[in-house]
Amino acid sequence: MAKGRVAFVTGGASGIGEATARRLAADGDRVVISDVNEASGEAIVEELRGSGTDAHFIKLDVSDEAAVFASAEKVSADVGPVDVLVNSAGLLENATLITEMDRESHDQIWNVNYWGTMHCCRAFGAPMVANGRGAIVNIASITSFNAFPLPAYSPSKAAVKSLTELLSVEYGRAGVRVNAVAPTYTLTPAIKSRIQSGHRDPDSIKGAGALHVFVEPRHIADGIHFLCSDASEVITGVTLPIDAGWLAARGYNHYVGGKPWEA
Ligand SMILES: NC(=O)c1ccc[n+]([C@@H]2O[C@H](COP(=O)([O-])OP(=O)(O)OC[C@H]3O[C@@H](n4cnc5c(N)ncnc54)[C@H](O)[C@@H]3O)[C@@H](O)[C@H]2O)c1
Repeated sequence: MAKGRVAFVTGGASGIGEATARRLAADGDRVVISDVNEASGEAIVEELRGSGTDAHFIKLDVSDEAAVFASAEKVSADVGPVDVLVNSAGLLENATLITEMDRESHDQIWNVNYWGTMHCCRAFGAPMVANGRGAIVNIASITSFNAFPLPAYSPSKAAVKSLTELLSVEYGRAGVRVNAVAPTYTLTPAIKSRIQSGHRDPDSIKGAGALHVFVEPRHIADGIHFLCSDASEVITGVTLPIDAGWLAARGYNHYVGGKPWEA
């Protein structure tokens, strides 16, 4: 796809979405940031405009199906047909038991993480299919591959991975690619606040991956940028772990015989 594409990024006012909007803008894309956080989204758009990017903000709650479809029409009319969709709007969860989970917050997480992704893939994907071009990147998680004690979040991210595979086939016939990234714990505001409140342990996070480093939002943005670019033109339906080796290390680190270098 040519430079000057229109990229629509949900959850673009913070964390992975913000880093992705900045990465795509740096590469010459026209960027539409959407989020429920208007103040932060507008501030990022102002900054991007200041450095020459054609940037826009649209306030959108991705769990509101009618609003998502209306936004897709508005962006197409005001900015142009959307070539790239990145679904980064999401809610995290803290560990809890299924037997004790709060049903209302469970539904809210599903409404944003799964249904928000679904609504956007349908509303923005249909015109892409009609135009015969486009790339969608969803944000899955390492929890898409394993059960975590996160009763809403973990299954919602497994569902995002499955949806990505399903849509890659349905949309692929029209030349539209659908992929996902699966970040490990990433130092976004959402995770930083959980480290500060004691709900995540920074040393355990670093030690859990093969590389023993923190993953930053820019690392995830680089992977998303790749999956939106022509460099990945025959890659579709994948959920790409960007995890400093977390998935590779999970069995090794939990081997009951211990680690050979500790023997
Ligand atoms: N940070 C991590 O460790 C991590 C790991 C794996 C996956 N993820 C996923 O990455 C995505 C981004 O998370 P993040 O860490 O950057 O979080 P973040 O809180 O920094 O950013 C998320 C953004 O989504 C917005 N948002 C929330 N609900 C929304 C809604 N209903 N409609 C529109 N926007 C909404 C928030 O306002 C915020 O700006 C999420 O899907 C998250 O599940 C994060």
